[in-house]
Amino acid sequence: MGKLGLSYGGSLDFVFGLVFSILVISIRCEDVEVMNILKKTINAPVTFQWTDPDVCKWKHVNCDSRKHVIAIQIGNQNLQGFLPKELVMLTTLQKFECQRNGLTGPFPYLSKSLQRLLIHDNKFSSLPNNFFTGMSNLQEVEIDNNPLPPWQISNSLKDCVALQTFSAESVSIVGTIPDFFGRDGPFPGLVFLALSGNSLEGVLPASLSGSSIENLLVNGQNSNNKLNGTLIVLQNMTSLKQIWVNDNSFTGPIPDLSQLNQLSDVNLRDNQLTGVVPPSLMNLPSLQVVNLTNNRLQGPPPKFRDGVGVDNIIGGGRNEFCTNVPGQPCSPLVNILLSVVEPLGYPLKFAESWQGNDPCANKWIGIVCSGGNISIINFQNMGLSGTISPNFASLSSLTKLLIANNDITGAIPNQLTSMPLLQELDVSNNNLYGRVPSFPKGVVLKIGGNPDIGKDKPITPSASSHGFGKDNDKDEDKNKNSVDGVNVGIVLGVVFVLGIGVIILFMFWKRSRNHTKKGKKPDAITIHSSYKGGENVVKASVVVSGGGNDALSPTCNAYEVSNMVISIQVLRQVTNNFSEEKIVGKGGFGIVYKGELHDGTQIAVKRMQLGMMGEGSNEFTSEIEVLTKVRHKHLVSLLGYCLDENEKLLVYEYMTRGALSKHLFDWKEEGIKPLEWKTRLSIALDVARGIEYLHGLTQQIFIHRDIKPSNILLGEDMRAKVSDFGLVRLAPEGKASFQTRLAGTFGYMAPEYASTGRLTTKADVYSFGVVLMEIITGRKALDGSQPEENIHLVTWFCRMLLNKDSFQSMIDRTIEVDEETYASINTVAELAGHCSAREPYQRPDMSHVVNVLSSLVEVWKPTKQDVDDIYGINFDMTLPEALKRWQAFEGSSTLDLTLSPSTMNTSGGSTQTYQSSNASSHAQM
Ligand SMILES: *[C@@H]1O[C@H](CO)[C@@H](O)[C@H](O)[C@H]1NC(C)=O
Ligand SMILES: *[C@@H]1O[C@H](CO)[C@@H](O)[C@H](O)[C@H]1NC(C)=O
Ligand SMILES: *[C@@H]1O[C@H](CO)[C@@H](O)[C@H](O)[C@H]1NC(C)=O
Ligand SMILES: *[C@@H]1O[C@H](CO)[C@@H](O)[C@H](O)[C@H]1NC(C)=O
Ligand SMILES: *[C@@H]1O[C@H](CO)[C@@H](O)[C@H](O)[C@H]1NC(C)=O
Ligand SMILES: *[C@@H]1O[C@H](CO)[C@@H](O)[C@H](O)[C@H]1NC(C)=O
Repeated sequence: MGKLGLSYGGSLDFVFGLVFSILVISIRCEDVEVMNILKKTINAPVTFQWTDPDVCKWKHVNCDSRKHVIAIQIGNQNLQGFLPKELVMLTTLQKFECQRNGLTGPFPYLSKSLQRLLIHDNKFSSLPNNFFTGMSNLQEVEIDNNPLPPWQISNSLKDCVALQTFSAESVSIVGTIPDFFGRDGPFPGLVFLALSGNSLEGVLPASLSGSSIENLLVNGQNSNNKLNGTLIVLQNMTSLKQIWVNDNSFTGPIPDLSQLNQLSDVNLRDNQLTGVVPPSLMNLPSLQVVNLTNNRLQGPPPKFRDGVGVDNIIGGGRNEFCTNVPGQPCSPLVNILLSVVEPLGYPLKFAESWQGNDPCANKWIGIVCSGGNISIINFQNMGLSGTISPNFASLSSLTKLLIANNDITGAIPNQLTSMPLLQELDVSNNNLYGRVPSFPKGVVLKIGGNPDIGKDKPITPSASSHGFGKDNDKDEDKNKNSVDGVNVGIVLGVVFVLGIGVIILFMFWKRSRNHTKKGKKPDAITIHSSYKGGENVVKASVVVSGGGNDALSPTCNAYEVSNMVISIQVLRQVTNNFSEEKIVGKGGFGIVYKGELHDGTQIAVKRMQLGMMGEGSNEFTSEIEVLTKVRHKHLVSLLGYCLDENEKLLVYEYMTRGALSKHLFDWKEEGIKPLEWKTRLSIALDVARGIEYLHGLTQQIFIHRDIKPSNILLGEDMRAKVSDFGLVRLAPEGKASFQTRLAGTFGYMAPEYASTGRLTTKADVYSFGVVLMEIITGRKALDGSQPEENIHLVTWFCRMLLNKDSFQSMIDRTIEVDEETYASINTVAELAGHCSAREPYQRPDMSHVVNVLSSLVEVWKPTKQDVDDIYGINFDMTLPEALKRWQAFEGSSTLDLTLSPSTMNTSGGSTQTYQSSNASSHAQM
């Protein structure tokens, strides 16, 4: 074992591993421990009889055949108390029901195996932000009536592809109704959607069209605007049985619901609906209850068949029906006028003004009568959209039809030419198109200000052609905007990717300017990667054109992406011909030497020791492959490498403080100070960022496979970098999980990987969890000096974590624990347990880990700028941030993009594009 412990697959580890891998797989936190905690936190009454050592015999608890808890059903039990976070450890839980109790506190995470969640009518104070992430088995959600803080339905709900019931009434949801509940969304089986009593606003999304929803309850929103827009989308939701949209701000007419042949319960009251109640609604055979009170409905009061429950639509509740007698028709003039405003969407201002059954008896807006006949219609400047009804022609006494200065589209109906008394038709300043019919002589025709008039089709598409008035036109405008939005998005995206490319190229260019020394660089370096029979085969070759001195030289060139050339002679020289005293570490496949170039740059040279059968060769090429593709502040950078028949050398930046393992476990022997908690925390965050980058932020998904303290190196400033990429595997494109030859170090290896060889990024998350445990406890992943049941750190840690009293005693004694530190350690301990959860899907993504840790770490301020920071850009920033910074400097920079082709080809970073960590986390689900 080297001093740095740079051992991967060292023989001792290996033997250990064989013995304990079985342990790793079989041991987990037992359900009974978790259930006992639950028993305490909810003060389980004696009637529950929760005393048997076998939880499967407990009342309200069910187990599967392997004695794992699959159901907890404690609804309606008048329980007080709270739920423990440990519930998430019931990894087989399918049904959790605690509805109608007095439970308080935050609701905990639950296993992704959950199918039913009934927690309505309690006093839970919060639901975890990403609670629904990965809940692909969840069918039934009822969380109504809990005092949650305002929250929005997030995209993570989309993970619940099995969803059938989503009931979230009166739980302070804000924002708009998401557009993924419809036919093209992720929930083919969704039948019950209840969002009543929240603070939603905006419209019923058009995407609901064609959905399989049977019960839609969105009534009674508390937001200022409530839900608005029209109800038109309902006409395409043909599975609906129940519609509760009452107590909102919906406008426009009741749509044609004749296709909804199962519809039985319709509550539309307390909105601003206008227009005539469609006869198709009255004729629906399935209809049982209908509520229409307090709208601005017009036309004849509807008469439903016997047996249909109707609220008091005529007496107290306001509407604008023309008579008080259900079923009695309106006067012919009223009928004509209503038919005329139908294609204008029954605007509210007409509904409000047109009262009674005689347009000439009261002052109806837009109507001028003479002698009981309508002589003038003046709809000018009313913000109308829709089309011109041919039914104007039925108003035979009309002399002037004035509808100028609106947003009306379509054609001028031919029928208007037959109006006997018409003197003036003014349709100027609208969006009309089509042939202008020929009117009799003497009719004054004003058609100016209609750009497309006379043309067959509108050139400038705008307004509605389906004749549904104002609100629909608004929707169309929205669509138009969103199309533009997409274009803008694409353009921005391209600019963005280019920008990032430029930033990265620029950084390499800058570096190469700083570092370029004499020497011949290869014309091309090609790295071929192929995926064969479960193993990633990497071949690297360096092509050097003839003519130069080096080409025939028996030595080899180190080649680095920024053109730094180090010859083997130099490497020999700086390591005293690879002498003993320059050794800083030994690993399974190589010895690491320290050296210093004449410019003072300290380097670490790893000299691969290849086995007889060429073992180690893959690790060598894999490391080159990875390190030329990825660059990150928290990944050790490769400065160069060298390969010929006899020598395989890798040159890295030198990390002066050595491996984390030295600081955690061997500080006494090394004569160094043990690490303070804050330093440990900052190291953990650095490492998490490095891994997060490997997992998601590069174009491809890399899996390190050997995260452990001896592969975490510390610089002079105690900032950490992940090293040793010899075992890194590239996830084959499009595959979130794949099989590989087992490699790594026991004690850190995720159980599913150790037992089946199935590899996902979650295997690194597991190892990282183990590292966190080591950071907290100062104990090694496998500690042979401990009693048998404590040898395996994860098992021991998990047990200690569940018990508040033992928790304190497991903290590394060298850490000074004050109150603040204790809270911080506590959080990290939970995170560690979460990361090393038994099932891969229970483990968080590294992005989550980074979030948790960075919230604990004080913002670290670099004391001096490094190269990456020259333009205020560093790799800690999110890429969008980096782009912003870069754009800010764009004007002033003297960016030289004339990079040589070979630089382009080898600057692997230049092909990086941004891939959201979301995308990669989805791929893992
Ligand atoms: C509908 O509600 C949204 C959001 O509350 C608001 O911005 C919009 O102006 C409303 N539309 C109408 C026609 O009132
Ligand atoms: C209803 O569905 C039809 C056919 O799928 C579609 O053309 C129409 O735009 C939809 N209407 C609404 C309001 O969604
Ligand atoms: C709806 O109408 C039914 C039938 O008259 C009535 O029983 C019910 O109370 C009404 N609901 C509301 C919310 O007005
Ligand atoms: C109103 O119209 C009716 C029939 O169209 C006609 O008989 C009557 O004379 C008209 N009244 C006036 C004052 O023009
Ligand atoms: C750079 O890469 C391109 C495409 O991979 C290749 O065609 C070209 O020959 C390479 N240039 C050099 C100098 O190797
Ligand atoms: C370095 O070691 C090699 C053998 O490994 C030997 O042949 C060579 O002479 C040595 N060179 C120096 C400068 O010591």
